[in-house]
Amino acid sequence: MAGLPTVPGALPVLGHAVPLLRDPLAFLRGLPRIGDLVRVRVGPLRAVVVCDAELTRQVMRNDRVFDKGGVLYEQGREIAGDGLTTCPHARHRRQRRMLQPAFRTDRLAGYGEVIAAEIHAEVSRWRPGEVIDVPARMLTLSTTIAVRTLLSADLSAEETRAATDDLTTVLTGASRAVLTPPPLRGFTGNGRYRRARERLRHRLGAIVAEHRANGAEGAGVLLDALLNTPGITDAEISDQVMTFFFAASETTANAVAWALFLLAGDDRARRRWHAESAAVLAGQPVGHSHLDGLRFTGWVVAEALRLYPPVWLVTRSLAEDTELAGHRLPAGTTVVCSPYLIHRTGFARPDRFDPDRWRDTSTHTALPFGLGARKCIGDQFALAQATMTLAAIGARWRLEPVARARPAAGLSLRPRGLLMRATEPTV
Ligand code: HEM
Repeated sequence: MAGLPTVPGALPVLGHAVPLLRDPLAFLRGLPRIGDLVRVRVGPLRAVVVCDAELTRQVMRNDRVFDKGGVLYEQGREIAGDGLTTCPHARHRRQRRMLQPAFRTDRLAGYGEVIAAEIHAEVSRWRPGEVIDVPARMLTLSTTIAVRTLLSADLSAEETRAATDDLTTVLTGASRAVLTPPPLRGFTGNGRYRRARERLRHRLGAIVAEHRANGAEGAGVLLDALLNTPGITDAEISDQVMTFFFAASETTANAVAWALFLLAGDDRARRRWHAESAAVLAGQPVGHSHLDGLRFTGWVVAEALRLYPPVWLVTRSLAEDTELAGHRLPAGTTVVCSPYLIHRTGFARPDRFDPDRWRDTSTHTALPFGLGARKCIGDQFALAQATMTLAAIGARWRLEPVARARPAAGLSLRPRGLLMRATEPTV
C-alpha cells in the first residue's frame, strides 16, 4: 500500500480519531481532494477509504473478495451474530436464498396494509400545536411496523418504548465503540450497551418461542420463512431476528425524518408534497394502493436518501490480496465505502435538495441501499413505508422546526434534535 496517500493530521496513538469523532461527515468530504483511495488510522486500526463512485461500485459488487468485515461489521456481529447483514460471503448465499422470497415486491402488497394502518394510527395521534420529536416518533413507528410485519407480534406501548430505548442504547454504544480507539473502549459505557443488547435478544426470543409453541402459521414475513426452513437452529433464528430488527427500524425512521427536515427548508417542494398527498389520499387513510400516485413524494424520499443516506458508511475486509485502482492491497485490509460521500460528489449541484433531479435520473445512480449480492433485502419495504408515511403526514399536517437539527453520524445517520410543531397544512 506504499503508494497510497495518508490523510494528513494523524496524531500519535489516536490517529484520525479526533476529527472523525468531532465531525465525521466533514472529515469524509475532505478526503477526495487527497486521492481516490486514501489511508486513515483510528488508534491501531488502519483502513483504506474509497473516495470514487466507480471504485465504490467495484468494491460493493465483489462481495467475495471485499467480504463483510472491518470495524463496523465486527461490531455488528456482536449484536446480530451471523445474521444476513453481518455473515461472511461463505455463509451468505444460503441465507439470502432462504429469505429472499419473503421480500419479493409482489409480497409487499400483502403486508403493505399493516404498514399503512400503523402509519395512519401514528399521524392520527398528533394534535394541532403539538411538538413532535420526529426521529423518536418515527423510530417508534418503524419498530412497531417491523415487529408486526416481520414477527406478527403486537407490542404494548410500554413494550415498544422499552424496545426502542434498548435499540437506541445499543446503537449509541456500538457507534461509540466503532469510533473509539480500542485502548479507550473500556471507558465508553459498555455495560449498558451489553445489557440492552441481551434484553432485546431475550424479548425477541420470547416472541419466537410463542410462535413456535403455536405453530409457524401467520408468524410474520420473516419468522414464517425462518420457522419453515428445515434444519435451522435456534441460534440462527435468533441472529436473523436481531438482524432484521436492527436493519429495518432506525434506517427507515431516519429516511423519513431527513425528508421532513429537507421539506421544511424548501417552501416550493413542501407545497407540492402537501398538494400531491392531499390529492392522492383524497381524505382517506393512506393505503398501499396510493403508492403509484405519489410520484413527487417518491422523489423526495430518493433525494433525502441521497443527501442523508442512513447507512452512510460500510466496511469490508479483504479476503485475499487484490488490486484496486492499480494499487495492491493485502488480504485483511479494511476498506471503507461511503454512500454519503459518493452521493455528495457524483451529482450536479450535489448539496442542493432537488427532488426533480429524479424525474429523469435513474435511482440506480445512488447507493443508499448498497449494491450487488449484499444489497438491502428490505429496499422496497423501506421505500414503500417511507413514501406512505410522508404522504400520510403531508395530507394532514404541516411540520415546522422549533429547534435546529444537526446530523449525528453514528452507525446510522440521523437528524439529532429534529423537533417540529404540527399544524394544519394551509398549502
Ligand atoms: C431507508 C431504509 C434502509 C436503508 C437506507 C438500508 C440500507 C442498507 C444498506 C446500504 C445495506 C447494505 C450494507 C452493506 O453493503 O454493507 C443494507 C442491507 C440490508 N438491509 Fe437494509 N436498509 C433500509 C431498510 C431495511 C429494511 C426495512 C429491512 C428489512 C425489512 C432491511 C434489511 C436489510 C438486510 C437484512 C440487509 C443485509 C442484506 C444482505 O447482506 O444480504 N433494510 N441495507
